[in-house]
Amino acid sequence: MLAGKVAGGGSTDGGASPRVTAPPRVWQCPGMRAWRVHSLGDPAEVMSLDEVEQPRPGPGQVLVEVLAAGLNFPDVLMAQGQYQERPPLPFTPGVELCGEIVDTGQRVLGSPAGGPGAFAEYALMDADAAWPVPEEMSDEHAASLYLTYQTGYVGLHRRAALQAGEWLLVHAGAGGVGTAAIQLGKAAGAKVIATAGGARKTAICTQLGADHVIDYTSEDFVPIVKELTGGHGADVIYDPVGGDVFDASRKCIAFEGRLVVVGFTSGRIPAAPANHVLVKNYSVVGLHWGLYRKHDPARIGMVHEELCRLFADGAIEPLVGQVLPLAEAPQAMAAIADRGTVGKVVLKP
Ligand SMILES: NC(=O)c1ccc[n+]([C@@H]2O[C@H](COP(=O)([O-])OP(=O)(O)OC[C@H]3O[C@@H](n4cnc5c(N)ncnc54)[C@H](OP(=O)(O)O)[C@@H]3O)[C@@H](O)[C@H]2O)c1
Repeated sequence: MLAGKVAGGGSTDGGASPRVTAPPRVWQCPGMRAWRVHSLGDPAEVMSLDEVEQPRPGPGQVLVEVLAAGLNFPDVLMAQGQYQERPPLPFTPGVELCGEIVDTGQRVLGSPAGGPGAFAEYALMDADAAWPVPEEMSDEHAASLYLTYQTGYVGLHRRAALQAGEWLLVHAGAGGVGTAAIQLGKAAGAKVIATAGGARKTAICTQLGADHVIDYTSEDFVPIVKELTGGHGADVIYDPVGGDVFDASRKCIAFEGRLVVVGFTSGRIPAAPANHVLVKNYSVVGLHWGLYRKHDPARIGMVHEELCRLFADGAIEPLVGQVLPLAEAPQAMAAIADRGTVGKVVLKP
């Protein structure tokens, strides 16, 4: 605990004129543990678990006690300085959490205010972007229901206009984004083909409800998708991997298909030649869910309600692959970077 910080009361006039001074105001400034990235690089080397002051809510913000924080691939990229957002150093990583509002005791989920900050005992949230957590939902599920499910819902429904009965191909189906997309695709009535790396991950995709699963580290998914769809191809392809996976996806996309660009975990940003897009009559659809917070914030609330409804109906349930203590954040981030996790990894302070 950091305590006893003194504020105000100091003389700034050089002490020349006598005056009556109020006794210095002393406030208790509670501390907390928070992971902080001090320089950009390998998370295990550039992060430390520091004792810092609790953040103070500004106008429109609430202080929450973090009950669970979900890990995401962008946490790794941000620490490495390879993400589109570059918070000023030092910063506390973590972009998604379930917490309890200190003033009211209400459980909420969402992102910390103004950027990362979830890998700590307390965080600030914007009050109008702190979404209520249904009573029956665990802290771990709530900490996993925001980023990947919002992205999946907006990506599949808003950006790709997925229809019941269509063929949906989800790449990296056992990852955080992929597990959400499989469940959301099935909930939308799509026929889901998932790819994943290795037997453990393909088994998970099957458990999640995928109709067909391909180990794309040992099999060429292109002819398999063509065969499964009777030559039609995939109507929607949801691609968080990029690189060679994106290139191959262009070969098995359907007439009027939508290839959703979600991320580049392979490390290579691919390109689609415009003549290929024309000749095969498909769309390459960009997805940057975070921009909806700026351009269409009402949609986030509508999607949250829909996700809670799907959860209550049993149509979706985040796969929490691992729950770890807050102190193990670097190990968890290393596992994500090394392709070693399934579903979501959740940290508990
Ligand atoms: N567009 C948006 O708005 C948005 C929102 C959220 C996240 N994202 C992006 O979505 C992607 C996935 O995020 P996530 O949190 O779901 O990550 P994740 O849980 O770690 O899943 C990513 C998966 O990518 C696969 N992968 C393939 N090549 C890889 C490599 N070289 N290194 C690591 N993984 C590799 C792995 O599955 P296999 O082993 O089965 O191949 C891994 O499980 C990230 O690029 C993230 O930035 C985008």
